[in-house]
Amino acid sequence: MNPEAVADLASLREKLVQRLGAAAVLADPAEHARYCRDWHGDVQTGAVAVLRPDSTEAVAQAVRACGELGLSIIPQGGNTGLVLGGTPDAPGRQVVLTLERMNRIRRIDPDDFSTVVEAGCVLQQVQQAVREQGLFLGLSLGAEGSCQVGGNVSTNAGGINVLRYGMAREQVLGLEAVLPDGSVFDGLSTLRKDNRGIDLKQLFIGAEGTLGIVTAVSLKLSPAPEQVETALLAVDSLHAALALYRQARRDCCDLMSAFEYMPPAAFMLAREAMPDLPLPLAQEHPGYVLMEISGSGLVDVGALMQAFLEKALEAGAVRDGVVAASHAQARGLWLFREAMNEGQARRGLHLRTDVSVPLSRLADFVDQVQARLAQAHPDCLTVSYGHVGDGNVHVNVLPPAAASTAQRMDIIHDAKEIINAAIDAFGGSISAEHGIGRLKRPDFERRAGPVRLGLLQALKRAVDPQGRMNPGCQIMVE
Ligand code: FAD
Ligand code: LAC
Ligand code: ZN
Repeated sequence: MNPEAVADLASLREKLVQRLGAAAVLADPAEHARYCRDWHGDVQTGAVAVLRPDSTEAVAQAVRACGELGLSIIPQGGNTGLVLGGTPDAPGRQVVLTLERMNRIRRIDPDDFSTVVEAGCVLQQVQQAVREQGLFLGLSLGAEGSCQVGGNVSTNAGGINVLRYGMAREQVLGLEAVLPDGSVFDGLSTLRKDNRGIDLKQLFIGAEGTLGIVTAVSLKLSPAPEQVETALLAVDSLHAALALYRQARRDCCDLMSAFEYMPPAAFMLAREAMPDLPLPLAQEHPGYVLMEISGSGLVDVGALMQAFLEKALEAGAVRDGVVAASHAQARGLWLFREAMNEGQARRGLHLRTDVSVPLSRLADFVDQVQARLAQAHPDCLTVSYGHVGDGNVHVNVLPPAAASTAQRMDIIHDAKEIINAAIDAFGGSISAEHGIGRLKRPDFERRAGPVRLGLLQALKRAVDPQGRMNPGCQIMVE
């Protein structure tokens, strides 16, 4: 960087500190690294500064100051996003605005079955707090120990409970957001039903920080399930897993809260991250389902699981299985599903996808894609897993250990084209749950069509005419 640019940056940092106070600004670039690196460490950039406001008014003040100084803002929650939406791409003109100091639970109301939390609350913190009051938030994902509610809402996160409770959007009763001009949209209602015209809170859900900064959210809660049955079931194939899912939907009285599919490689990958995890079944099988049924009140969930499994075993739908006898054993089973992500991260640069196709076509989709990938890249490990009950699968492609960065980039590009072509042919989506961010923007824009793209651009121009809020994320606006 030339000396003039360095002096400009120093002067911008000084002005931010003057206006917002030293506690709300990390001005030293040495402190920026973790805010400017994505979860996998694939990308490391920089920022003018990292802003850390601790109230809605402080967020509004920061937004106004950035507007006056000509700076763009990258809102950031727990920085666990997987599509480069929360990290800068123009270090000399952007600040990261982290919500990490806005982590207060404002209210939990058991009679209303609702809670109001600040956007920077870590998801797990909210789960635990409502649990202490006998309540349950129907949102759970592998990153829940780090991701924030504001990030969940901004990405419309999915996770393992979607088939029962819906995506993050369905948990949101209301929200508060700071708009790009520094004004505050106050939509923090806890009403269940409110049809006063267009539901404006929806604008910010899944917007990935492009229309404003979510500062607080009111969330729908349910009674905490007192009975949870968790089973790991071995099956013949993904086709068999989906047949089992259809049966479970019919047999389990809408009490199924998770149905995750894993291939045998999941266990190997999970143990690369957590070598001490004990293998749950004696033999290897072609596929596995991690299934959960849960309920509260007068229903006997244990008996339901037992009856369902007896029927499935008798019909030959399940090869083998284990039902967790304790909470600790259930956690152990879930650890395989969670640690397989960490295991993949340890394999270095690789392709991650986040596909949905109509549920009835999911197994054919995976068969076709895996056959094409095996032919084109026989030396790579392809892992297809995830929330198959939602028609959502992560088809990830891991290059061989010896592959150079350039070779990995080539593999990622080619494998992505193979997968995207199949998504198009099956009428699917390139983003079932992770969002578009910067990573998927070109692929998204190519597929969006002029009307959808035009609407998105018109909306962006109307709400953020200066284009200061997370520019380059989701869509490009000139
Ligand atoms: P960040 O990564 O910080 O940001 C994500 C996007 O939201 C960015 O565009 C950012 O600018 C914007 N943003 C963040 N906070 C705000 C705010 N307050 N206001 C406005 N914009 C904001 N995702 C799933 O959907 N399902 C899963 O099962 C799942 N599992 C995961 C497992 C692992 C191990 C990891 C690492 C990630 C997983 N994810 C999953 C992805 C990620 O956790 C989710 O997208 C999560 O919702 C992101 O939350 P965050 O707070 O980390 O957001
Ligand atoms: C999961 C993330 C990758 O399902 O979405 O593990
Ligand atoms: Zn997922």
